[in-house]
Amino acid sequence: MKTTFSEIPEAYKINSLLHQKTYLVDGELKQWKGEMAEVHSTISSTENYTPTVLGTIPQLGEKEALDALNSACLAYDKGQGLWPTMKVIDRIACMEKFAQQMKTKREEVVKLLMWEIGKNLPDSEKEFDRTVDYIYDTIEAYKQIDRDSAKFEKNAGVYAHIRRGPLGVVLCLGPYNYPLNETFTLLIPALIMGNPVIFKPAKIGVLLISPLLEAFQNSFPKGVVNIVYGRGRVLATPIMQSGRIDVLALIGNSKSANALQAEHPKGNRLRMVLGLEAKNPAIVLPDADLDLAVEECIAGTLSFNGQRCTALKVLYVHESIVDEFNKRFSEKVDALKFGNPWETGAKLTPLPEAEKPAYIRELIDDALEKGAKKLNEKGGETSDNFIFPAVLYPVTKNMRVFKEEQFGPVIPIVPFNDIEKPLDDMAESNYGQQVSLFGKDIHTLSPLIDTLVNLVCRVNLNSSCQRGPDVYPFTGRKDSAYGTLSVHDALRSFSIRTFVASKDNAYNNAILEELLDKKTSNFISTDYIL
Ligand code: G3H
Repeated sequence: MKTTFSEIPEAYKINSLLHQKTYLVDGELKQWKGEMAEVHSTISSTENYTPTVLGTIPQLGEKEALDALNSACLAYDKGQGLWPTMKVIDRIACMEKFAQQMKTKREEVVKLLMWEIGKNLPDSEKEFDRTVDYIYDTIEAYKQIDRDSAKFEKNAGVYAHIRRGPLGVVLCLGPYNYPLNETFTLLIPALIMGNPVIFKPAKIGVLLISPLLEAFQNSFPKGVVNIVYGRGRVLATPIMQSGRIDVLALIGNSKSANALQAEHPKGNRLRMVLGLEAKNPAIVLPDADLDLAVEECIAGTLSFNGQRCTALKVLYVHESIVDEFNKRFSEKVDALKFGNPWETGAKLTPLPEAEKPAYIRELIDDALEKGAKKLNEKGGETSDNFIFPAVLYPVTKNMRVFKEEQFGPVIPIVPFNDIEKPLDDMAESNYGQQVSLFGKDIHTLSPLIDTLVNLVCRVNLNSSCQRGPDVYPFTGRKDSAYGTLSVHDALRSFSIRTFVASKDNAYNNAILEELLDKKTSNFISTDYIL
């Protein structure tokens, strides 16, 4: 897309480059004097297309990775560190301090989200606001967990004071499509439960963390948050090989998760919290409200250009309605506006991975060669940083676009007349995150729902797939996830139940009473946080 510098609204112009010369280890923003890497946006600022340089980031090496690991291990200090033993109320105070400062950085972060990953303005703002809400909701959920455990239980003559404790040192890696939100849905619960973290921002969507570095530094005790920059292989491999990581928290793909997990010398010690790839289908039944189905499938397949793990990546449409569905759907796709992220009404935006248009083109060509047709006029039109979504029909199992998670703008449509076809495909698939089911008749829907809930982890009735609201469990089967994330579940995923038990006798009871009375233990406490 051709853009001249003068066409970019003043507020979003890149007038100066952001050189991130520090990284956060041991509570210090350390200066880096070694190799730097340029950060580019695929959005052009000149009439003749050229990617825009946004700034530079450090390319840290193994030594700095291991310094970050040592810093986190010291902060944990075998469970004796300040952070893991701190009173819940004090950890919450640190988190609130961070959130307060984070809120002041909205404009900078939103602008960088648009430039670095091409997310449109409303969605970039939503990503920021949703993340701040997530922090406050997490604080409330943690208070509730704490209130629920502010008591003693007694069974078979044994008192128990049961709480949730931290797991240890967490390595946190987030994805480029939600470089702020999804990373923070790992980072925030991990931290608040008392775990120190080492966080490496995603390859794309990295500079947007810079405005938050100081807030991280001054809100948490030394060594609790460590932020390193560079190549995943160089940094994450030695960290995992050390065997000192207790939790791998990653949103990305199963190949990276498996490779990193394999580096850990003691797999049995490693907890994993993983959000991975998916190929969520939509199933459109003969009695579906077609307008509604089309509208939801547009949002499901093409929000943020299809670059969402929850995106609808294949549409199964019943043969009796497929022609009409295809007609209405293709028209709507062609009517979507492509533009730079700040342009009003831009639903489709530049792709942040320079090589993505060529990959999507390969999928289209492969499908066309194997007998599919491109239904929409604009499908496949390519510019320097974009390829217009192609609607492909009829798609069959031997096509790459059926098998691969496209994570971009191309929509395969598969006709069916027997409902067993999509069900069999889903059962055979490596993925099991969500499905969208469009239809009305309860006698048809009931048995389908009862089966689909066992193939995926969320059945969206007459609506597209999505992660939110964040209070609901976000998880998946097979290669799609490991562990469950939601405001509440994430707190559980990053902690373990641990308790103090004592036999009911006068000797022990007097000790417990004194502990409660003198408030000398941060763990044994029945204080109620409001
Ligand atoms: O990339 C996957 C995200 O979790 C999707 O979240 O459904 O809110 O876009 P979303």
